[in-house]
Amino acid sequence: MSQSSGGTVLVAGASYGIGEQIARHFAVRGCKVILAARSADRLSAIAESLPSAVPAPVDFSKLEALQDWLAGIVRDHGPLSSLVYCAAVMSRIPLRDFDVPTMEEIFRVNTMAPILLTQAFRRPGSFRAPGSVVFVSSIIGMVGRPSLTVYGASKEALHGFVRSAALELCRQGIRINAVAPGMIETEHNMTEFARMSEVQKASVKAAYPLGIGAPMDVVKAVEFLSGEDSKWITGTTLVVDGGYTAQ
Ligand SMILES: NC(=O)c1ccc[n+]([C@@H]2O[C@H](COP(=O)([O-])OP(=O)(O)OC[C@H]3O[C@@H](n4cnc5c(N)ncnc54)[C@H](OP(=O)(O)O)[C@@H]3O)[C@@H](O)[C@H]2O)c1
Repeated sequence: MSQSSGGTVLVAGASYGIGEQIARHFAVRGCKVILAARSADRLSAIAESLPSAVPAPVDFSKLEALQDWLAGIVRDHGPLSSLVYCAAVMSRIPLRDFDVPTMEEIFRVNTMAPILLTQAFRRPGSFRAPGSVVFVSSIIGMVGRPSLTVYGASKEALHGFVRSAALELCRQGIRINAVAPGMIETEHNMTEFARMSEVQKASVKAAYPLGIGAPMDVVKAVEFLSGEDSKWITGTTLVVDGGYTAQ
């Protein structure tokens, strides 16, 4: 079954940006969507605007509670067909300024939470085969950028996890992949972009042969990797970056 024509999809990071657009896309295509993030009011407003969506507020940095949280979702809404993890902390911090709590928060939300949720998803009764897991990572897990050292490390770790987890999970009928986007025109990004000088803006634009991406560019890649059109693809990271890393 294609994820875009039914099933229950958990979208982590559904309150803003790319995750919100992923959730909206799956919902209008007939999926029941579980909307997860911290901003409860915003999730409720998004859910009300969609045909079949439920808010499920959660803080992904609270790792100890995550597996029970997912078990509760399954108890209330039945087995999941897909898990899409799009939440992240993206702090631009020079290496000299990092402290342990900041580093820990980045790794908890960006790396450890998706790993623990995958572990909970694979439990018998939690998913309906064929199941799929898709992580939204970043090209900064593949190429470097000053001030994104720990963010890049947290995303690259996902790519390593995806490869080995794919080999374990295939026996249960679960595929797992990642999508690595380049710069996408989200509300948050455009606010940051607006603060740049004209020279900085021109240099960012010039780095993308096909221009800066739109949320829908990532949504389509996630949809493909979630559904049966990619039934022979697992353990891979799909780069969606307008040619940035081809240079
Ligand atoms: N935008 C880009 O250019 C770009 C490029 C490459 C990769 N990416 C990746 O794409 C994904 C989405 O990016 P975006 O730009 O759309 O991000 P965004 O607009 O900043 O949204 C981030 C999402 O993560 C959630 N989140 C953050 N911390 C959380 C926590 N502790 N617990 C629960 N939810 C939490 C936020 O919800 P709450 O604040 O409500 O909790 C929000 O829904 C991220 O994984 C990012 O690394 C983005």
